[in-house]
Amino acid sequence: MTDDSTLPHGPLSGRTVALCVAGSIAAYKAVELARLLLKGGARVVPVMTASAARFLGPVTLAGITGESVATDMWDASFAGEMHVRIAERADLVVVAPATADVLARMAQGRADDLVTALVLCARGPVLAAPAMHPRMWEHPATQGNVARLVEHKRVQLVGPVSGEVASGDVGHGRMAEPDAILAAVATALSPRDLAGLRVVVTAGPTLEDLDPVRFLGNRSSGKMGFAIAERAAARGADVTLVAGPVGLPTPHGVRRVDVRGAVTMRQALWQAMGVDLAKVDALVMAAAVADHRPAETSASKIKKVDARVSLDLVKNPDLLAEVGAARAGARPVLVGFAVETERGEALVAYARRKLAEKHVDLVVANDASDSFGREDNRAVLVTAAEATELPTMSKSSLADVLLDRVRNLARAK
Ligand code: CTP
Repeated sequence: MTDDSTLPHGPLSGRTVALCVAGSIAAYKAVELARLLLKGGARVVPVMTASAARFLGPVTLAGITGESVATDMWDASFAGEMHVRIAERADLVVVAPATADVLARMAQGRADDLVTALVLCARGPVLAAPAMHPRMWEHPATQGNVARLVEHKRVQLVGPVSGEVASGDVGHGRMAEPDAILAAVATALSPRDLAGLRVVVTAGPTLEDLDPVRFLGNRSSGKMGFAIAERAAARGADVTLVAGPVGLPTPHGVRRVDVRGAVTMRQALWQAMGVDLAKVDALVMAAAVADHRPAETSASKIKKVDARVSLDLVKNPDLLAEVGAARAGARPVLVGFAVETERGEALVAYARRKLAEKHVDLVVANDASDSFGREDNRAVLVTAAEATELPTMSKSSLADVLLDRVRNLARAK
């Protein structure tokens, strides 16, 4: 087995985000956003407008980020030009919440406080998450400012969304939730190297119904497949996620089709790929598809019997093997998963068998205890030519490593 020492880290790790907070009640959500950014591995430089400091204590942001909060351009104790220094450090400038006033000043290209000066000085696009009363958002002045900001592609908006705002009114103007802003940050900091690639990902378990209240299932959490779909979309791919029953939120920018059993997963899969496989460039089968299903699903609840019972099961179609057999040339790229209770050479041997039997290009092999239900994963990437043992890493990072391979395979074909 070979070792892969050139591992990427998550999209945020080692990156610096300048988080600019403007004066809105939604400022309290900036604390959660800062926490999520830090959890993703980013360094966060907090910046506040003077009015933001009335809504949110700078000490809170300083405490969470471990950085002093920049609010005043005229602070003589700061060595150098504050907005220039921060702009040089920041891989991305995020304004969240972005008030109507800040958006107006940004649209005019003003630099009358630290936030607007920083926005003007930013090295790349700026992400803004508007937050205001719906009437302020709908006002032609705000709409004109927003149109101007996005026209030059120097500012990307995330939200606002519809919902209840601070006054209790309901409408469009509520700030996007911190996890949606985090996803937009990850996308902004990701390469667009999968643009044009159509990827279908399956995830989660399949549940095979015995009757209206009982089913046969497995312990797959769906996290690995969802991470792959999320990273593929962030890197620009067109992604369809066929998901078994899991309670995970749909990743940003991903088309999701929910299914239950293997038979419905099969239908959804072929619908997404096209019967002639014309709609897909890569299929990643991360779902733990049940090998068998009950021969019959009872329409009513099966009553208990005292004696021993046995279940009559029939074999499910092997969805991956079907695609492997159907592809004429080398497209789509096919990736399978092998979850075993073995490690080392035995694990690789099982994976190689799957590779050959299902006619796939790559198998991600892991020991169930290294993967199921966990946030991280330890895997071996097995192709016909090699087996690369990866260290334990987050599912998001493993997704990136896997997608690098998929991209290279798709380019080679
Ligand atoms: N797979 C599939 N359709 C099935 C079963 C599995 O497409 N009916 C896919 C899975 O999504 C995964 C790979 O095949 O990518 C797993 O292979 P499989 O041989 O089913 O794994 P196990 O069930 O773990 O294998 P075995 O029981 O042979 O150890």
